[in-house]
Amino acid sequence: MAAASRTMVPPAAIDVLPESDTSTFTLPDRLTIQGVAKRRAAEGRLVAGVAALADVDRFKGRSVHAHKPKARRWDRKYCLIDRLMIMKYLGFGSLTVISISDRFSPESNRRLPSSLKGAAQYLKTPGIISLGGGLPSSEYFPFEEFNVKVPVPGSFDNKTNHAVMSAGKHDLAQGTSDFDIATAFNYGQGYGSAQFLRWIIEHTEIIHSPPYQDWSCTMTVGSTSAIDMGMRMFCKSGDWILSEEFTFPTAVESAAPQGVKVAGVGVDAGGLRANALDKVLAEWDEAVRGGPKPFILYTVPTGQNPTGSTQSAQRRKEVYAVAQKHDLIIFEDEPYYFLQMDPYTGLNSPAATPPASHADFLASLVPSYLSIDTDGRVMRLDSFSKVIAPGSRVGWITASEQIVERYRQHADVSTQSPSGMSQLVLFKLLEEQWGHPGYLDWLLHIRAEYTARRNVLLDACELHVPKSIASWSPPAAGMFHWVRVDYTKHPSYGSVGRAEIEEAIFQANVRHGTLLMKGSWFCPEGQREGDAMFFRATYAATPLGDIKEGVRRFGEALRDAFGLEKGFDGENGSVAVK
Ligand SMILES: Cc1ncc(COP(=O)(O)O)c(C=O)c1O
Repeated sequence: MAAASRTMVPPAAIDVLPESDTSTFTLPDRLTIQGVAKRRAAEGRLVAGVAALADVDRFKGRSVHAHKPKARRWDRKYCLIDRLMIMKYLGFGSLTVISISDRFSPESNRRLPSSLKGAAQYLKTPGIISLGGGLPSSEYFPFEEFNVKVPVPGSFDNKTNHAVMSAGKHDLAQGTSDFDIATAFNYGQGYGSAQFLRWIIEHTEIIHSPPYQDWSCTMTVGSTSAIDMGMRMFCKSGDWILSEEFTFPTAVESAAPQGVKVAGVGVDAGGLRANALDKVLAEWDEAVRGGPKPFILYTVPTGQNPTGSTQSAQRRKEVYAVAQKHDLIIFEDEPYYFLQMDPYTGLNSPAATPPASHADFLASLVPSYLSIDTDGRVMRLDSFSKVIAPGSRVGWITASEQIVERYRQHADVSTQSPSGMSQLVLFKLLEEQWGHPGYLDWLLHIRAEYTARRNVLLDACELHVPKSIASWSPPAAGMFHWVRVDYTKHPSYGSVGRAEIEEAIFQANVRHGTLLMKGSWFCPEGQREGDAMFFRATYAATPLGDIKEGVRRFGEALRDAFGLEKGFDGENGSVAVK
């Protein structure tokens, strides 16, 4: 038998488009909120008990996607006919057909469906008495009812109105809710509860409307776990993956113990550069790198951590074209997707005007990779961490059914599913209290909050950070600000190395009472002499007054470290320190 190989599809002769944003993008077939209501009415009530299997096609609307092409498969089957076998076939033996998985890792290929979870399908057999599953009786759950107070749409800004969401133990049986304590607090399926999965699928369709037929979603315990599980699904020790040259350190730290290395791809103010991606792949030298050409691109397209950059619609199309050319799978990690803001227009920018309608809001969002993924090569990671609460530990992936199925199989025997307690709270909030429209209102509220925070930080930078040595592009999404520092102007430049200067600036910040992260901490391949130097600031949670003061101290620290006179702020000292 031939050994499993990872043959790459030869690059096609396509041109990488210029890196500029010149086009707009309209999402076809977007599910509307009215459409959800109609679909629900047609389907009738969802009754899903303990560990019930979910009918994803029903949640997607059975026929809605039928006209779309199917996703590519990643376990390409090869019919390999061994010459000897042909000889045998032609009279002396038999034909052997073997299947080689081209993209999935050996670990993923060894996974089998969980036998115990699979037995859940028989629970709906009429009249069956289960002596099978080791699921405890809800009689022994020491929870009868819970009540959670939440803000209601219309008063998110002033928080004057609240509602109390209640869940009882047997609401489902009593017909007062589709989800209850008895169901949610028991074991569930790897993809999460059917009740909440339905909401997630509808939300995904409202926002992204994936352009192929067999897309699916499965819940995760957050994107950190999805990165780890996703890498295990596709990579083996000795492999490389690709990411922005500055990236979320957890992704690198998750890859390292798996024996997987991360190769950085050049970025600019508009995020990952398609040409740089193409170049890294086209010039990949297995002997020099000590590993095969990568086929996983991990990217954070919106409000990237740490650079704060957001890829435009055009940039995403260019990157997607390169992904097609080199046959990549894209991990689209998007915790900051809904924190897209109006552009910063300078000191004291006027408050942003909110979109006039939900439709305008959705149209204003940069299209996701998922929404342009005609091939089914994107695994999108969503998370409630940055828009609801990180402690919920609930997120989901969207990808082709084949990829999602592999993920579920892994979840069934590892994370199982996100906490049922979390799922029930989120279900009560997003399904029963806010619904899809209320959630969009919340996202609008949250993004306005972050816009105000960002503006405070950028105003403070304008006022206090010396532009003779520091420069930046205002972030258009997320919670990070990335400041470039021209260390060639540092007094020690030439006599000590780059790393020492970075450390000296970092320590100057600490001495002056402010903390910013070193850029080199986000560099998967480390930084070399001559590489640009950056520091990351965040406006995520610090009180507004402290943001101003922290940035003032940062400016002071830079002046101190670079030996600039106090009061020297702009290139020519014309901006006074306030
Ligand atoms: C790019 C990125 N991905 C994922 C996460 C973590 O997401 P989760 O809380 O869903 O694990 C973070 C958090 O900082 C992040 O910046």
